[in-house]
Amino acid sequence: MSRSAILYFNEEKAAQKMNLIDIAKEAALEAGELLKEGFGTHFQIEHKDGIQNLVTEYDLSSQNLIIKKIKSRFPSHQFLAEEDGLKAPPSDQILWIIDPLDGTVNYAHNIPFFAISIAAARGKEILASVVYSPMMNELYAAEKGSGAYLKGKRLSVSSAHTFERAMLGTGFPYDVDQNPLHCIERFAQIALLGAPIRRLGVASLDLAYLASGRFDAFWEVGLQPWDMAGGKLLIEEAGGKVTLYDGRPHPIYEYLPLLASNGHLHEIMVSYLKGDLK
Ligand code: IPD
Ligand code: CA
Ligand code: CA
Repeated sequence: MSRSAILYFNEEKAAQKMNLIDIAKEAALEAGELLKEGFGTHFQIEHKDGIQNLVTEYDLSSQNLIIKKIKSRFPSHQFLAEEDGLKAPPSDQILWIIDPLDGTVNYAHNIPFFAISIAAARGKEILASVVYSPMMNELYAAEKGSGAYLKGKRLSVSSAHTFERAMLGTGFPYDVDQNPLHCIERFAQIALLGAPIRRLGVASLDLAYLASGRFDAFWEVGLQPWDMAGGKLLIEEAGGKVTLYDGRPHPIYEYLPLLASNGHLHEIMVSYLKGDLK
């Protein structure tokens, strides 16, 4: 490739990268307004598989808004979004991985703790992502290789090196009554060590809190790509780590256990989480 062609190629790439994050931010902010309008009002709630696995009319309208917005800018892109069964497999094309309302159970119970997670990926690589907490007015954004930001400030994971100083986060799936992978025993084992553990009910925000240094480690036995893709890039760009329970890379498109940490606590968390429990 000639020098000018390389320059053009790089400029194109930069332009597209910028547009990915810009459109993700715009879509999240607009969807956030919609969710705020609906919050606390009377709305339709339906039940999906599992106990209290809810879907409200706002999950659906938020998803429609986000997809419409992104499609109007990038008509050829693909979507993997939680509601409506839009489950495109990874390909060479940009794939938008969307949770239009993360924390639906909180939302349905008038608890103002919920988020929108939007990530743009190519294959296994997440290029840009946002996690937006409308009620706190916090828009977390990251671009691959350019850092993670909140309100113009570059994010950095915490510096906690010892488990004794750690603030932990966790979550439970909708089939927790089945105790998948002995998640209750694993939780009890860690709880008995005495560290504070928070369960926000919003996985994408748990991960954003880790990226911003509020949490030092987080784990959950099963997360979908739309729950974790946005937060994963935030954490990695803030210097932290996201893996499977045993420390191997997380293949984002599979429903698998996830461990995230500031990096310093990763090994110790792996030692608590890996292995079979009888
Ligand atoms: C749920 C939340 C929750 C996590 C569950 C997710 P939803 O997503 O992120 O914190 O524990 O595993 O399914 O249903 O509110 O989008
Ligand atoms: Ca979710
Ligand atoms: Ca959701």
